[in-house]
Amino acid sequence: MKLPGLTLLALGLAACAQASHINYTTVTGYFLQDESTTDPSTFDFTTTNFGLINRTYPSDGDGGYTRTQWERFYNQVTELNRQSPSHINYKVLFLGRHGEGWHNAAEDYYGTPSWNCYWSLLNGNGTATWHDADLTKTGKKQALIVHNFWQSLLNKQRIHAPDSYFVSPLTRTLRTANLTFSGLTLPRGSPPFKPLVKEYLREGISLHTCDQRRTRTYIHNLFPDWPVEHTLPETDELWTGVRGETSAAQDVRSKTALDEIFRGNGTGLFVSVTSHSGEIGSLLRVIGHRSFRLNTGAVIPVLVRAETVAASLPTSTPAWTVSAHCTAPPVTSVQSCVCPSTAVPVTTPLVTASL
Ligand SMILES: *[C@@H]1O[C@H](CO)[C@@H](O)[C@H](O)[C@H]1NC(C)=O
Ligand SMILES: *[C@@H]1O[C@H](CO)[C@@H](O)[C@H](O)[C@H]1NC(C)=O
Ligand SMILES: *[C@@H]1O[C@H](CO)[C@@H](O)[C@H](O)[C@H]1NC(C)=O
Ligand SMILES: *[C@@H]1O[C@H](CO)[C@@H](O)[C@H](O)[C@H]1NC(C)=O
Ligand SMILES: *[C@@H]1O[C@H](CO)[C@@H](O)[C@H](O)[C@H]1NC(C)=O
Repeated sequence: MKLPGLTLLALGLAACAQASHINYTTVTGYFLQDESTTDPSTFDFTTTNFGLINRTYPSDGDGGYTRTQWERFYNQVTELNRQSPSHINYKVLFLGRHGEGWHNAAEDYYGTPSWNCYWSLLNGNGTATWHDADLTKTGKKQALIVHNFWQSLLNKQRIHAPDSYFVSPLTRTLRTANLTFSGLTLPRGSPPFKPLVKEYLREGISLHTCDQRRTRTYIHNLFPDWPVEHTLPETDELWTGVRGETSAAQDVRSKTALDEIFRGNGTGLFVSVTSHSGEIGSLLRVIGHRSFRLNTGAVIPVLVRAETVAASLPTSTPAWTVSAHCTAPPVTSVQSCVCPSTAVPVTTPLVTASL
């Protein structure tokens, strides 16, 4: 039975939420990835303590020397929150890209122009399947490297384990999160690894079949213990194979995902998010971080300041776009894609949506 009082309260909260917005900023000075001198293409987070800069903090006090950098950093973030008014919040997001998937391997194999204008629109090529791609052997290995890295930081740096976990609903991210966090020996009192499966953390929704997710039932059957947000529909209602999400549209829903993490389920200071290259790029834009492209399997920590501002933002719903593709294998993929003369570009799907 639903109590009328509770319903009213819920409506009141919803109304409040709409009359304010959260302004996100990246707090620099803590991680090497924030510095313009760090080159994302060669940076290795596993050999640099996740990029945490060796430094002192205002909150160190006496005895700073006996605590590790990660222990003192956690203390510093706690202090930042303690000293801020209640409408300002700090969290550390660990944004992890999935390990190599079959779609990544196929893009390498065919070359990007040919992949984008033809092969990505198919479900696979008879040998490999890339519709809602699974991890390759390399991809699984990459996730296990991150697993071992977390374990060594937990043991040696006494890093604070994530307080909450989120994961995109695509197979490659579900598998990566599982391999990364299952079976870690966590400090006593840490919450168990039970990531919330969240629709708006999925990859940019292009025409590629690798961006179509499978059903809610499939996700539940793969990881029965994991919570799935109640709003996630049974079937994928966003992917059409005809219209693709623009960066502007993606940033709007990435901000919605962050708002939900900061307002609701993202309890604690350290939050793990397992997502995708394009989507992490979008999340970084929303928090005002410099562009930092991740290789498959890489993770970037970011210290985020979230300020709730008592003014609503105009709602924007940027349009999606269509793009033309070939209907038969391209004749070349060196500089750009060239369709065979008998297969002129069209904007109709090459395959029907599969689940
Ligand atoms: C967000 O915060 C930053 C830094 O505090 C400020 O410069 C900017 O104007 C704010 N933007 C909005 C839309 O409130
Ligand atoms: C921080 O110092 C330690 C040695 O105390 C070193 O191993 C590590 O590489 C340094 N990290 C960075 C990011 O400079
Ligand atoms: C299918 O693509 C994979 C790359 O993902 C490649 O290794 C394989 O040889 C391709 N198969 C065919 C039949 O072209
Ligand atoms: C999850 O990870 C564990 C530990 O690596 C592994 O044994 C298990 O097969 C994985 N589950 C799925 C559904 O991939
Ligand atoms: C997440 O938060 C929403 C409301 O903000 C709530 O309805 C949902 O049950 C929460 N999910 C979990 C797994 O905590």
